Amino acid sequence: KKISERKIRSPIITVLGHIDHGKTTLLDYIRGTIVQKREAAGITQHIGASFFPMDTILDFCKAPESLRKKITIPGLLVIDTPGHTAFMNLRKRGGAVADFAVLVIEMPTGPMQTTWEAVRILRDKKVPFIIAANKIDRINGWKPEKDADFMESYNKQNKFTKELLDKYLYETIGLFYEEEFPGIERYDRIQDFTKNLAIVPTSAKTGEGIPTLLIVLLGIVQQYLQKKIEYTDGPAQGVVLEVKKETGYGMTLDCIIFDGHLEKGQQIVVGGLNGPITTHIRALLTPKELDEIRDPSKKFSQNEIIYAAAGVKILAPGIEDVVAGAPLRAVGSEDNIDDIVKIIREELETI
Ligand code: GTP
Ligand code: NA
Ligand code: MG
Repeated sequence: KKISERKIRSPIITVLGHIDHGKTTLLDYIRGTIVQKREAAGITQHIGASFFPMDTILDFCKAPESLRKKITIPGLLVIDTPGHTAFMNLRKRGGAVADFAVLVIEMPTGPMQTTWEAVRILRDKKVPFIIAANKIDRINGWKPEKDADFMESYNKQNKFTKELLDKYLYETIGLFYEEEFPGIERYDRIQDFTKNLAIVPTSAKTGEGIPTLLIVLLGIVQQYLQKKIEYTDGPAQGVVLEVKKETGYGMTLDCIIFDGHLEKGQQIVVGGLNGPITTHIRALLTPKELDEIRDPSKKFSQNEIIYAAAGVKILAPGIEDVVAGAPLRAVGSEDNIDDIVKIIREELETI
């Protein structure tokens, strides 16, 4: 396809890190601030993810005009992952499907066991990432300034507090160096984001550095990930995050769709315990808007069609043996089913 015909989808951003380092609070902060400020924030809940529209994000981080002009991605599909040791598999799957990741590390604690596990997942899957050095509000003497750009707030701190933060950051950078991750730098000292890995100090309590984190993220994603997030409007490709029994529905597949589209009734091939499983979609479910969940038996809305990037719950017969982490493909009218089965079989071997 010619460049001009190519479309860009929303990148899938996975948030990873050690337990309680502040992943969920960080996302909640962005969500909360946006919802407070605008009536129609346009944030939508997906299965296993949240969608943040680009205009809303750009307003939140008071993006300069120069950045606004460059941005063509429609929004960010963000996957939050749990830091508890028991959820290694979820982190793996969240990491595998990510176009980009945010690694959250609490200061002054620094990287912990799950931080390193996440780093290994990202390295294995070749997912680029940035580091949020979170909880800077807890640093001795820190004077908070709500929602401030990091440098703006940093420059107003006293010498002692600045030096403390610098020390904590250097300790973390040093530990990454030992793990053979050289070249991590505070974002404002980086010239070339393909050579250095950026660390952005944040507070999910005061909002400091969060606009900065988003601006750095958007800059990198827009500039370097174009190829990865090209959207081809064809049969869907996705990955299964979880296989779940759902009251009133039976067995369901929680999936992230990263390319193409998926239609109700369409045939799909998905990875199973004993090889590819061919079935058809009975229903495509997405969470209902919060104010619509009065009747708990109707947790989900039904959809006729779903476009990438999206998180969706699939209802289909014969999916009991589907394995979490498995690849999924829709079968288009021009596709040969045997070819799709072969692709899924090959993809299954790599998970
Ligand atoms: P898991 O999902 O269990 O891995 O944890 P998480 O990384 O999502 O951490 P969570 O957002 O649940 O935060 C853990 C605790 O840290 C909560 O009590 C938060 O209020 C607190 N917390 C998170 N971010 C900050 C921060 O920037 N500053 C301060 N002071 N507290 C924070
Ligand atoms: Na937690
Ligand atoms: Mg959490």
